[in-house]
Amino acid sequence: MTIHDTKLTPAETCTTDPRSPYLGVKNLTKKFDESTALDDVSFDISKGEFICFLGPSGCGKTTLLRCIAGLETQTAGQIIQSEKDISWLPPSARDFGIVFQSYALFPNLTVGDNVAYGLVNTGAKRREIAEKVDGLLKLVNLSAHKSKYPAQLSGGEQQRIALVRALATSPGLLLLDEPLSALDAQVREHLRREVRALQKRLDVTTIMVTHDQDEALTMADRIVVMNAGKLEQIGTPREIYEEPATPFVARFIGETNVIPLAEFEHGHARSGRCWLDISQAKSADETAPSGTDVIAVIRPEDVLIAQKDCLNTVQTDILDVEFLGDHLTVHVHAPALDSDRLSVRISKQQALTLDLSAGTRLPLCLPSQALRLLNAT
Ligand SMILES: Nc1ncnc2c1ncn2[C@@H]1O[C@H](COP(=O)(O)OP(=O)(O)O)[C@@H](O)[C@H]1O
Ligand SMILES: [Mg+2]
Repeated sequence: MTIHDTKLTPAETCTTDPRSPYLGVKNLTKKFDESTALDDVSFDISKGEFICFLGPSGCGKTTLLRCIAGLETQTAGQIIQSEKDISWLPPSARDFGIVFQSYALFPNLTVGDNVAYGLVNTGAKRREIAEKVDGLLKLVNLSAHKSKYPAQLSGGEQQRIALVRALATSPGLLLLDEPLSALDAQVREHLRREVRALQKRLDVTTIMVTHDQDEALTMADRIVVMNAGKLEQIGTPREIYEEPATPFVARFIGETNVIPLAEFEHGHARSGRCWLDISQAKSADETAPSGTDVIAVIRPEDVLIAQKDCLNTVQTDILDVEFLGDHLTVHVHAPALDSDRLSVRISKQQALTLDLSAGTRLPLCLPSQALRLLNAT
């Protein structure tokens, strides 16, 4: 078949564009009196994606989630869901289910009645509701608890009930505000997997707010990193970790070494008394930053113990060593470098061959290709 045989008109190709986002947040700003909680935030989410809003406390994550739900009204900007402008719709006219950090189950209703709650007013028959509730409880393996009251369940069980209650009406969008934060570490890790498996199985577009980077890195398809009301970066966990777009993202996700750079010349940059080879360094933009206020970042696992053939060797003195079970993090001082401290990750095997006592010299290598150049401001 040649191109000429296709009978699609431009109009037909446009109406069902599979690439159109499921949810679009456009230039969203939210002010509370004088303070700006959200500052011109824009991004798109595809159908079926699991998105995490990640950032420190007070950066605007909950406010953004509440604007999407209609529980808060934006000061400016738009929210588009399924190609419909929902910016001014009340929550009751929007298509979402929500789970908060506090379990917020009705204490005087049984587990079964809690799950059925949103279905009662839909006009569904009692038998249909009962079947739906049974199906939902089965999904989270809590069928046996149907007649119990919330207070008789553990925190993790209550959150699983809150989750299926939010899913009962089969919403297009599932909103989760720190749903695992109140649980202890072991339950939390188990529930991460359970929530993700359930989300995949139901293919429901999901946004989860968290301040926990491990949670975001392990669960999300893409992460929206926020800082002081602004969107810093949106990307896959790997992109966010390996290709941070801003110094904030580099510092907030994982551990990172920051080396301020002062002068640039012939593929080299000066930090303190060291000229570092940056010819293979990466940067967020195509053109590497080269003015003032530029930093190089490098992850502790990318810093190497110096070998003979290493460019960018720096002399350092060991400050202290942290034992972290499967590896060690060694903190050093590099007097020639314009950087207070560097961290280097060392395997247990490697540690056996080195003298890692405080004050000992440790020549390190900062491989050119592992450096990432960013504008500091
Ligand atoms: N109802 C409100 N009235 C006034 N300020 C608010 C209100 N809700 C949130 N804020 C402020 O908006 C900012 C963002 O808050 P929030 O969205 O709750 O952050 P996060 O969920 O990331 O911790 C904070 O400075 C907070 O104090
Ligand atoms: Mg919050």
